[in-house]
Amino acid sequence: MTLSTVGIDAISLSTPRAFLELADLAAKRGVPVEKYTSGLGAVRMAIAGPGEDPVTLATDAAARVIERAGIDPESIGMCAVGTETGIDHSKPVASYVHGLLDLPPSCRVFDTKHACFGGTAALMAACEWIASGAARGRRALVVCTDIARYALGSPGEPTQGAGAVAMIVSERPRLLEIELGRSGRYARDVHDFWRPLNRRDALVDGHFSVACYLDAFTGAFDEWRREEERRGGGDPLARVVYHVPYPKMAKKADRQRAKLEGLDDAAADARFAREVAPSLAFSAEVGNIYTGSLYMAVASLLHAEASALVGTRIGLFSYGSGCGAELFAARVAEGAGGFARELALDEPLRDRVRLGFDRYEAIRRADAEETPRAGVLDESLPCDRTAFLGIDAAERRVYRRARPASGTARIAPRASIVAAA
Ligand code: HMG
Repeated sequence: MTLSTVGIDAISLSTPRAFLELADLAAKRGVPVEKYTSGLGAVRMAIAGPGEDPVTLATDAAARVIERAGIDPESIGMCAVGTETGIDHSKPVASYVHGLLDLPPSCRVFDTKHACFGGTAALMAACEWIASGAARGRRALVVCTDIARYALGSPGEPTQGAGAVAMIVSERPRLLEIELGRSGRYARDVHDFWRPLNRRDALVDGHFSVACYLDAFTGAFDEWRREEERRGGGDPLARVVYHVPYPKMAKKADRQRAKLEGLDDAAADARFAREVAPSLAFSAEVGNIYTGSLYMAVASLLHAEASALVGTRIGLFSYGSGCGAELFAARVAEGAGGFARELALDEPLRDRVRLGFDRYEAIRRADAEETPRAGVLDESLPCDRTAFLGIDAAERRVYRRARPASGTARIAPRASIVAAA
């Protein structure tokens, strides 16, 4: 591999318009709210409504990162989407994103899948493509997009969420330089969480999934430490960012790290508050967004502390059920503080709408249908963002994209896209 500085140049989120207060869910389910707020560490969860799907969330996050970071779309030579919320057996979400954003035809376009690890698989493919020299100076757009759904009334219900994270990957990144070739990996064939083809909601063996996550962390951490020792060590990690199905899971994982390092519980708690908690704020508001959860935590950390962390090394732990995991490190780039402020990473979390409980249940029930009826397009959907209008008579998905900045309609030259009214 050609050695060069490669990593996350810019990052942005998108979330659905609506969220459910977990206090409202707790009241209806007859559960003390502390179980959700303290036991799971979560406060709200984003709920995808009519017109929102993995494509619209991905497109809005990608449009935002391109615009905010001042990226020339012509410089993008790879468009990779990590997702586990399938919309088609063949056509990738990445193709829709590529079309809706009018990215250049000379572009490698594909989806990656391995539960929540799928986003990291795409990110690593992009970094290694650039580091190898094969990119010939071009950038990659990597998007993680998902809708987390569990059955109504099930233990997984308070850990739902929806959203996307888009990242520009480039040489000389402005946010995080990723250390390639030194990660720790772990994989094992388990059934901790799965999404059968005939279902919209995930199936999960909840407590077993927590144990699998911790085993995977142990395996990846062991290999990462061996590699660190082999190379004579590096700076200690100033922060560790975890995959966050719910914030308490990151605490459990960090406890596991402390145990492996021989730290007592009091020292572990103090370190957690300093080194992990700042990355959990966005997750507590949005819930689990599967592939994007780790990168939403990265955005949360950079939003809170990028200036203070310039030059330091942070650890990133990615877990995907099934299972596969990777622990790797990245260095916070010079100037990341000011640039993170320009990216306004928390903007999509402002101005959301609180859903009433009955509306939430109605949305989830309607959503449980496997596929929308062909030939029914909903042109009345709001046009301030990308919208999924439905499926046409030939069973093609139809989208409409508006330019958020000007509010004016944009007609993209693809059969599956229609103009805003
Ligand atoms: P549960 O069994 O209903 O909850 O579901 P519990 O009884 O285990 O309680 C949860 C916590 O709340 C416990 O704390 C309780 O003590 C506490 P802990 O012991 O864990 O520290 N608690 C309270 N605290 C304060 N006041 C109270 C109170 N009552 C209880 N009154 C479970 C929990 C996570 C199993 C469930 O929500 C679930 O199945 N979630 C979905 C699966 C999941 O998120 N797994 C995480 C690891 S797997 C993963 O991360 C991959 C994934 O993202 C998918 C992918 O890769 O694609 C899911």
